[in-house]
Amino acid sequence: ESTMTSRKGSTAPTPPPAVKGIGKKVAKPDYSESKIVVAMVGLPARGKSYLSNKLMIYLNWLEYDVTVFNVGQLRRSKARQKAQQLGIKEDHTASFFSHENVEATQSRDSLAQESLETLIQWLKDGGNVGIHDATNSTRSRRAKIEARIAQEKGMSLIFLESICDDPAVIAANVALKVSQGDPDYKDMSREDAKRDFLRRIKEYEKIYETITEPHLSYVRIVNVGEEVTLSRIHGYLSSRIAYYLMNLHIKPRSIYLSRHGESQYNVEGKIGGDSLLSPRGMQYAKALPALVTESVGDQTLTVWTSTLKRTIQTAQYLPYTKLTWKSLDELDAGVCDGMTYEEIEKQYPDDFANRDDDKFNYRYRGGESYRDVVIRLEPVIMELERQENILIVGHQAILRCLYAYFHSFPQADLPYIKIPLHTVIKLTPRAYGCDEARFALPIEAVDTHRPKPGTADKPSESSNTTQRKYFAEHEQPRMHAPVPKKDI
Ligand code: F6P
Ligand code: PEP
Repeated sequence: ESTMTSRKGSTAPTPPPAVKGIGKKVAKPDYSESKIVVAMVGLPARGKSYLSNKLMIYLNWLEYDVTVFNVGQLRRSKARQKAQQLGIKEDHTASFFSHENVEATQSRDSLAQESLETLIQWLKDGGNVGIHDATNSTRSRRAKIEARIAQEKGMSLIFLESICDDPAVIAANVALKVSQGDPDYKDMSREDAKRDFLRRIKEYEKIYETITEPHLSYVRIVNVGEEVTLSRIHGYLSSRIAYYLMNLHIKPRSIYLSRHGESQYNVEGKIGGDSLLSPRGMQYAKALPALVTESVGDQTLTVWTSTLKRTIQTAQYLPYTKLTWKSLDELDAGVCDGMTYEEIEKQYPDDFANRDDDKFNYRYRGGESYRDVVIRLEPVIMELERQENILIVGHQAILRCLYAYFHSFPQADLPYIKIPLHTVIKLTPRAYGCDEARFALPIEAVDTHRPKPGTADKPSESSNTTQRKYFAEHEQPRMHAPVPKKDI
């Protein structure tokens, strides 16, 4: 499904006369007709927030506008206000979640409704997929949601139920909830928090009704990756959502990213092309197996390369199954293929400035933009979700896009992510995101990172540090996911 056009030779053609509309910004696709409510269903500690966030990241990647509306967060902010007004203590203990507590049950219902109203308004204001992150664990709650969405023209509703009967996974989720300084338990010891949270789950179990309503549109996931049931899924985006969810799993595994070894073009400062490795690049290819086999141990691994010689050459000594993907070929620089940045600046000054101005959207004449690359990488992302240990030997722009997916980096920062040569990046998906380790091999290579003009490039700051800073500054929604049972 690659959209790659054939590659140009290495000699730079004479520049064509300036043409408006190419080599410029390319607009975002129009998704204004897509309006879906995804209502989560599941007991506490079943990975609902994890699934919500995975789905959000995937759909964001495809540029759908997605927001998770978490009822627990709304409940806490309301409780905080009320407690401040009345000078009382907030109560988030298990009794609040008991169906016998009539007042609290009403209050929870109205919170769920309120957050649904906010979600609906957000969809009307231009959003595409609103995820209602609540337990929605009874037929009557679901019937209310259904009736409300039926009043809205052009909105569809899918329930996403997460069932988990694996005690180890549940225990890991509970541990995650109480160990992360959960705001519900901020004034409690870990033991008390755990005891209370288990009681809360018991309260929900008393009234929990799995989805059996035959007319509902739903996806039911058992132990993420073990079993998936689809019912009444219609339409392009809904099918896509269902397909993505079908491919998710939570088995422990890592995704390794490495650029090809330094190429002859890298040494010459030229972009694109299909050159062979430099002598230092060959050294990297020879050193790579030891590094990878040590990290992978006796587990299986599959190596993916692009169809370009420099990645295939880099992977040649790796003792694993290899697969080549056309979709992994480097960003196509069109008429600029084979040129240095300096040559491009001289021959296509406007284009060069346009690219600096908005690198994500800029499409090379006869070539691609980062946005184009993101779209063509979608099947790769889907397959990465399905697979276990994978090493991708790729290219600078390609690996930036993949890295940005796993760390949910914003589009504007994506084209500047530092993916140095002769470095292996190990990403290990976790309940809350991805852990990262970088292994730089001591084989010198040129630096191909061109910072955005006007911004100070601090070479000492790896994108890993940048990423950590990003997460520290933008509080991420916490994800209580089924945590892998065994670690690697
Ligand atoms: O310079 C190596 C390279 O992989 C080129 O082939 C490619 O055009 C470029 O990096 C992509 O990086 P950027 O988008 O920063 O120009
Ligand atoms: C919550 O308040 O944390 C919550 C998930 O709400 P409900 O169970 O009412 O959907």
